[in-house]
Amino acid sequence: MIGVAILISGGGSNMVELVRSMTSDHPARPVLVLSNVFGAGGLERARALGVPTSVMEHSAFPNRPAFEAALTSALETAGADLICLAGFMRVLTSGFTERWAGQIMNIHPSLLPKYPGLRTHARAIAAGDAEAGCTVHEVTADLDAGPILGQARVPVTNGDTPQTLAARVLKAEHRLYPQVLRRVAGGDRTPLYLG
Ligand code: GRF
Repeated sequence: MIGVAILISGGGSNMVELVRSMTSDHPARPVLVLSNVFGAGGLERARALGVPTSVMEHSAFPNRPAFEAALTSALETAGADLICLAGFMRVLTSGFTERWAGQIMNIHPSLLPKYPGLRTHARAIAAGDAEAGCTVHEVTADLDAGPILGQARVPVTNGDTPQTLAARVLKAEHRLYPQVLRRVAGGDRTPLYLG
């Protein structure tokens, strides 16, 4: 059985969808939800779903490598084979991404390679894009630049604000991420493209 650890920093709505998708016919199961933020809303939601949780505040460590060494230890102890970043707001160094190469994925709220980084929705609106969306990609040392595992597109409508577009994209994230996880857990890394 493939163990999946989900790293969060906030509300964890993507985490909830991933956990709920790992039903009995799924090749993977959730083994840990870890937050770098004490009190993150997703921790309570994970506990309610019966998933073991952990908090590892990065500020408690002297530097990134020390934090990442503790993170790796927690993930190994939990039996993680795949790591899903889901609103995890810490940049991971090459030391970590190389140790877990091929085993980490992330969901980013834009159609990469467009708009890596932050404020993706405001940038799509400002550019007058007709479409926006989200991308699941493998995590490498280059921020938001790893091999694409899946994308979902949504229209940008007149009058959209970053908030209204974010809400539409988030729904697409909740559709895309679980489907990509099921594929990757089944050994298939063919990118998945949803309308
Ligand atoms: C999502 O918008 C995702 O694209 C970004 O952070 C947000 C996570 O939201 N990485 P949630 O914590 O999964 O609700």
